[in-house]
Amino acid sequence: MAHKLVVTAYGEPADVVRLIEAPDPTPGPGQVVVATRAIGMNPADVKTIRGQMGADESRLPLPLGFEAAGVVTAIGEHAHSASGPISVGDDVIVYRAVGAYTDVLLADATAVHHRPSTLDAEHAAGLLLVGVTAADLVATAAVQPSDVVLVHGGSGAVGSIAVQLAVSVGATVVATAGAANQDHVAALGATPVVYGEGLLDRVRTAATGPVTAVLDTVGTDEAIDVSLQLVDNPGKIVSVAAFGRAADGIVVLNGSTPQSKQNRAAAIDDLIADAAAGRLATEVAKTFPLADAPTALTELATTHPRGKFVLLP
Ligand SMILES: NC(=O)c1ccc[n+]([C@@H]2O[C@H](COP(=O)([O-])OP(=O)(O)OC[C@H]3O[C@@H](n4cnc5c(N)ncnc54)[C@H](OP(=O)(O)O)[C@@H]3O)[C@@H](O)[C@H]2O)c1
Repeated sequence: MAHKLVVTAYGEPADVVRLIEAPDPTPGPGQVVVATRAIGMNPADVKTIRGQMGADESRLPLPLGFEAAGVVTAIGEHAHSASGPISVGDDVIVYRAVGAYTDVLLADATAVHHRPSTLDAEHAAGLLLVGVTAADLVATAAVQPSDVVLVHGGSGAVGSIAVQLAVSVGATVVATAGAANQDHVAALGATPVVYGEGLLDRVRTAATGPVTAVLDTVGTDEAIDVSLQLVDNPGKIVSVAAFGRAADGIVVLNGSTPQSKQNRAAAIDDLIADAAAGRLATEVAKTFPLADAPTALTELATTHPRGKFVLLP
């Protein structure tokens, strides 16, 4: 039997997320079954549970989780992975998965990517959702070597990759983070500044010239208000979190437009290769047994340590 976490009603994780048993899935045409080894957790999982991504009662019970790493155990007819021929026993990453919070995951083969041996399953499980989001931010802002880029949330899972990608383009990067994460952001190649009151002045002092692009992963009014004061063209302020501020003329991404989808799909191979080669740094903050997902989700939704949370089946 497979074990999976599902959302039984929209609300707080501890109240509505349940572990259920289900028969092991059989792969249909174009599908594979993956025995998961590690499952990536994301803020979007919490937003899904709370009904912030839609609260359609008819979709309940709702499967949870968008990404995992594991081993292929069964392959349906005509199933070809995104990264070439696939065999039982292959180590893979599944993104974008439907219902990744499980020990036995049924996936479209087109969402299956081979995992290099130098990228461990825990890091691989949490790499792609945040990685493609960061890549979409950098591509949408069209970051160039001449840019001075402000990243809001440079210590976060999305923001830390956005910092590294913008630095790799050759841009000058200033990034916000909490006081405890200033050294970490500096190690990624950005000039760190603490968010909070006085942010505008601190960014102006830290930046070597006028800020020409903003990548926002925080979405607070402070982040957007400061950005609008720094950048002449609001179209160069790109956010994945400030959904209430689109009327200010900034660009808000949720991955649904054709261009966003293209940016994200195009980034996957390089993200895997760079993480496997040690060129892209990612962090696993904590691991939890799969059955403890409600506790882990509650912690993820509040103040939590830097890095990804990962479930272990
Ligand atoms: N639209 C999309 O396609 C998409 C895709 C993925 C993620 N997202 C969203 O992007 C956001 C970030 O996700 P994540 O996984 O990177 O989260 P995360 O790892 O928890 O990072 C959160 C970041 O926000 C910073 N932060 C916390 N409180 C802050 C405050 N009051 N002011 C300024 N910065 C603050 C944190 O800094 P410290 O920890 O240093 O304090 C950290 O850098 C979430 O809202 C997520 O849902 C959107």
